[in-house]
Amino acid sequence: MKQYLSINDIDSLPNWVDEAISLKKNPCQFQQLGKGKTICLLFFNNSLRTRLSTQKAAMNLGLQIMVMNFGNEGWALEFEDGTIMDQGTSEHIKEAAQVVSQYCDIVAIRAFAKLEDKVKDEAEEVLNGFAKHASIPVVNMESSTAHPLQALADAITLGEHKTESKPKVVLSWAPHPKALPHAVANSFVQLMKRQEVEFIITHPKGYELNPEITENCQIEYNQEKALENADFVYVKNWCSYSDYGKVLTQDSSWMMTVKKLGKAKFMHCLPVRRNVVVEDAILDGNQSLVIEQANNRTYSAQIVLKKILETL
Ligand code: CP
Repeated sequence: MKQYLSINDIDSLPNWVDEAISLKKNPCQFQQLGKGKTICLLFFNNSLRTRLSTQKAAMNLGLQIMVMNFGNEGWALEFEDGTIMDQGTSEHIKEAAQVVSQYCDIVAIRAFAKLEDKVKDEAEEVLNGFAKHASIPVVNMESSTAHPLQALADAITLGEHKTESKPKVVLSWAPHPKALPHAVANSFVQLMKRQEVEFIITHPKGYELNPEITENCQIEYNQEKALENADFVYVKNWCSYSDYGKVLTQDSSWMMTVKKLGKAKFMHCLPVRRNVVVEDAILDGNQSLVIEQANNRTYSAQIVLKKILETL
């Protein structure tokens, strides 16, 4: 495998999930694969889980690791072709990507949406800039529009916990004081479209995700109705897509509660704001899968890195 930019780079989701679950039993069995090779993790934004789980996955595979907080320690990058660089940017993506390719065998990038300009965010200039100009495989550690490592971890978690052949999964919007990107929700929707599930998305009007991504998905504006008989409830905030980057409401009645959750398992990618997105009792109770999702981030990264290393 030459890259992992979106879940479209997964050739067989059931096989990857099975392989990840099996890998968990003996995580260091492929240490030789990464011997003498280096991965570079470039962070343009903050992280806890992605940063540590990707390092852990790399260590399990015997890779050497370099980590850089590019957002505040690297040179300001230029992405346009032919720009006269006499303003704020100091280094062009063409040189930066080629230079990183001299030091490592794989580069992983985290670069969030800025939520100021939909066209620019959807162009994925950082991720695609590296994918275009680097000579080594590129891994997406959350870009403007996708978080495929999280989605793969979620697929592993669902695979481990489902008791029905076709469970009902609900993606529910939740309130949040800040404008958050669509990346996690987008990748989760794309993932659900590749699973044997009854899938419903619920959110207030005005919070429709990119219609190209939600095409053929059931959308229900009544949260209570959507949640009826759910087996898994995945809760996430995102800002408006049509009124791009705006917080249209912080209606606390959309917060997930024990009563609304019913018998379903609770999922969230973390970090989560307690008693805004979800009430304490869910996170502290035994229906929450959030810590297992975080644990599975190591194995989702490890499957991806293993498949890349096998082709180097
Ligand atoms: N879920 C997730 O990507 O967490 P971090 O932002 O902490 O990496």
